[in-house]
Amino acid sequence: MFPKLKIGELTARVPIIQGGMGVGISLSGLASAVANEGGIGVISSVGLGLLEQANGKNYREKNLICLRNEIRKAKAMSDGVIGLNIMVAVSDYDDIVKTAIEEKIDILFLGAGLPLKIPEGLTLEYLKSVKTKIVPIVSSDRAAKLIFHSWEKKYDHIPDAVVVEGPKAGGHLGFKAEQVDDPHYALEEIIPKVIKILEPFKQRFKKDIPIIAAGGIFDGKDIHKFLEMGAAGVQMGTRFVATNECDADIKFKEQYINCHKEDIGIIKSPVGLPGRAIINEFLKDVTSGIKKPFICPWKCLKTCKMNQSLYCIADALMKAKIGDLANGFSFAGANAYRIKKIVSVKELMESLRNEFEETVSRLQDRNFALKVS
Ligand SMILES: Cc1cc2nc3c(=O)[nH]c(=O)nc-3n(C[C@H](O)[C@H](O)[C@H](O)COP(=O)(O)O)c2cc1C
Repeated sequence: MFPKLKIGELTARVPIIQGGMGVGISLSGLASAVANEGGIGVISSVGLGLLEQANGKNYREKNLICLRNEIRKAKAMSDGVIGLNIMVAVSDYDDIVKTAIEEKIDILFLGAGLPLKIPEGLTLEYLKSVKTKIVPIVSSDRAAKLIFHSWEKKYDHIPDAVVVEGPKAGGHLGFKAEQVDDPHYALEEIIPKVIKILEPFKQRFKKDIPIIAAGGIFDGKDIHKFLEMGAAGVQMGTRFVATNECDADIKFKEQYINCHKEDIGIIKSPVGLPGRAIINEFLKDVTSGIKKPFICPWKCLKTCKMNQSLYCIADALMKAKIGDLANGFSFAGANAYRIKKIVSVKELMESLRNEFEETVSRLQDRNFALKVS
């Protein structure tokens, strides 16, 4: 009963996108497992150079070597739909986009910044000639309008879909700290506004613009709720961390199983955005002003003020990925504490499908009962 998710000519059997998770949390292992189950698997491109061993190469070169390898590995392991998540704020954004398109990635998800123009070095003609779909990630109808309007004005062309990420998501959030718990900014409030704002673009371009809901979506009932609101699919991150196939160390995953609601909080990230994470000793230290000395391998974020920063976020996230939680921390969605065990991607997808189908049946029974009475 799960509807298919169509983005242009791409079709996923299951309307679930596994959100890209850096550093190194969603690589080819997780992305291919999700794609094999009919969803869209997404590799995170952030900080890949930190994981690459290639000798004699600088960090920027290592980033691209690792990126090519991960896309090739994912495609070798799955015939399904594979995407790549890119932070617009990284210094080698243009190179990453070009490399991913050369490797024939199916979809690019552009987050952590507003992609108001197509990446440097790419022409619109080239973009239109390749099959890669471009999908920005936004947190408001205003951001969606800015991007679509800018693309329309500059190129007479618009992105292929949009992910709308609400404040319950894990990772960096596109909200001010004081908006995160304000019900006016809840995902349920933003989705209808984005649908409305994109309607004229759909009409003018005679093109469907699938809207994907993300942030705090936990079970099949939640998926059903957002599809009923008009979303074409959902993006989920947190649930996929607690899977066997997730590319993080087991200690990273165990934190999700062992954490409590009150352990999950909002941090002020050096990226300049709030982020949702599991608050551990490392984060308590930096919040109280204790510096964690680091050597910047290179300025990976365009806006990083490394002299003012108490720690290097790329390094801290990479340490967490390999299980060194004394020197790092993990991002997590608001619902991470509800996860009780690590399962396979197949089991997770099956449970989401069952919960979705139970919700549909329950509602059908209720409607039938109402009609009869
Ligand atoms: C550990 C972790 C790392 C993440 N890293 C990124 C990232 O690098 N880029 C990005 O756009 N989103 C990132 N996200 C957000 C996810 O892609 C996804 O949109 C979000 O987690 C959805 O909310 P949920 O976790 O409640 O399902 C991350 C989320 C988590 C939990």
